[in-house]
Amino acid sequence: MGIRKYPCFMFFVFFICCFFFTNILSHGADTISANQSLSGNQTITSAGGKFELGFYKPGNSSYYYISMWDAKVSTLRIVWVANRDNPISDKYSSVLKILDGNLVILNESQTLIWSTNQNSTTSNSVVAVLGDDGNLILRDGSNSNQSIWQSFDHPAHTWLPGAKIAYNKLTNTHQGLTSWKNSEDPSTGLYSLNLDANNSQYVMFWNGSKQYWTSGPWNGQIFSLVPEMRANYIFNFSYHDNENES
Ligand SMILES: *[C@@H]1O[C@H](CO)[C@@H](O)[C@H](O)[C@H]1NC(C)=O
Ligand SMILES: *[C@@H]1O[C@H](CO)[C@@H](O)[C@H](O)[C@H]1NC(C)=O
Ligand SMILES: *[C@@H]1O[C@H](CO)[C@@H](O)[C@H](O)[C@H]1NC(C)=O
Ligand SMILES: *[C@@H]1O[C@H](CO)[C@@H](O)[C@H](O)[C@H]1NC(C)=O
Ligand SMILES: *[C@@H]1O[C@H](CO)[C@@H](O)[C@H](O)[C@H]1NC(C)=O
Ligand SMILES: *[C@@H]1O[C@H](CO)[C@@H](O)[C@H](O)[C@H]1NC(C)=O
Ligand SMILES: *[C@@H]1O[C@H](CO)[C@@H](O)[C@H](O)[C@H]1NC(C)=O
Ligand SMILES: *[C@@H]1O[C@H](CO)[C@@H](O)[C@H](O)[C@H]1NC(C)=O
Ligand SMILES: *[C@@H]1O[C@H](CO)[C@@H](O)[C@H](O)[C@H]1NC(C)=O
Repeated sequence: MGIRKYPCFMFFVFFICCFFFTNILSHGADTISANQSLSGNQTITSAGGKFELGFYKPGNSSYYYISMWDAKVSTLRIVWVANRDNPISDKYSSVLKILDGNLVILNESQTLIWSTNQNSTTSNSVVAVLGDDGNLILRDGSNSNQSIWQSFDHPAHTWLPGAKIAYNKLTNTHQGLTSWKNSEDPSTGLYSLNLDANNSQYVMFWNGSKQYWTSGPWNGQIFSLVPEMRANYIFNFSYHDNENES
């Protein structure tokens, strides 16, 4: 009984993490700008109310993580976690803020534990905006067309519509998904999904290197080993390949 027979099940395991939505969180603006910060129960919400971002503690964990969740469903579904491998234990004395042109998290002792890590701009006008597509975009407010950093380029365990699983040919880097350790620990787990650009397919790995599933190559319309893509598939995938990336 091969795992290939159950790609739906694997998708379910891989993408969906459900918890009961027990916290009542406050709703706010969709933007964090230079003089603002988020801590405690404060959140930002995308303009259309689809996604919300703030400190979140999964289940019985004693740690908090800056997380983004689907704000429209009653069962909490986390779609992105910033500091997945650097938890904090007190959300009231930790902050998410803009510092020197980056979005950063400072922990209880005001130590920097996570950053968007871009070379600092001199601009004071850098803002972080949460979009209705679930993309958190850091940009220079005075040049709103140019994003400095976006969460879609740093996915966690969830593939959101509009985002891509990619291989960058110039930097030789993969942009893929990695599972949580378990339902109460979002730190980097054992299962990952990446693109195998040589074979125009996406693959799943266990413990970084052991391939246990493949989508089969893109044939121009579908990935060949995902037969349910042939008719009325609920997802709309496409595969693109150019000199810079796949
Ligand atoms: C934060 O939310 C929790 C859960 O709803 C609540 O118990 C707590 O009192 C809130 N804290 C503040 C400072 O409002
Ligand atoms: C941030 O605060 C400083 C000093 O209070 C002020 O000069 C600056 O205009 C503020 N920036 C924004 C974006 O509000
Ligand atoms: C948290 O722990 C309590 C007591 O050990 C348990 O009853 C509950 O199911 C746990 N909650 C989750 C989400 O695991
Ligand atoms: C804050 O982070 C630093 C660096 O990871 C760590 O040494 C320190 O113990 C953390 N502070 C608290 C209160 O956890
Ligand atoms: C930041 O600048 C340094 C030195 O100029 C460079 O090596 C590095 O690649 C830059 N990082 C980013 C994210 O652009
Ligand atoms: C942003 O893009 C729009 C349309 O492409 C253009 O009209 C506008 O001038 C651009 N703004 C800046 C600040 O570059
Ligand atoms: C793709 O092909 C290149 C060159 O043959 C090789 O170095 C690389 O390891 C291959 N990548 C994968 C994921 O197989
Ligand atoms: C994962 O692989 C590393 C070596 O790359 C090994 O040390 C580790 O024990 C493996 N983990 C598991 C759970 O087998
Ligand atoms: C799927 O995505 C492509 C490219 O974005 C678009 O042209 C097409 O209309 C979409 N199809 C459906 C059924 O949503």
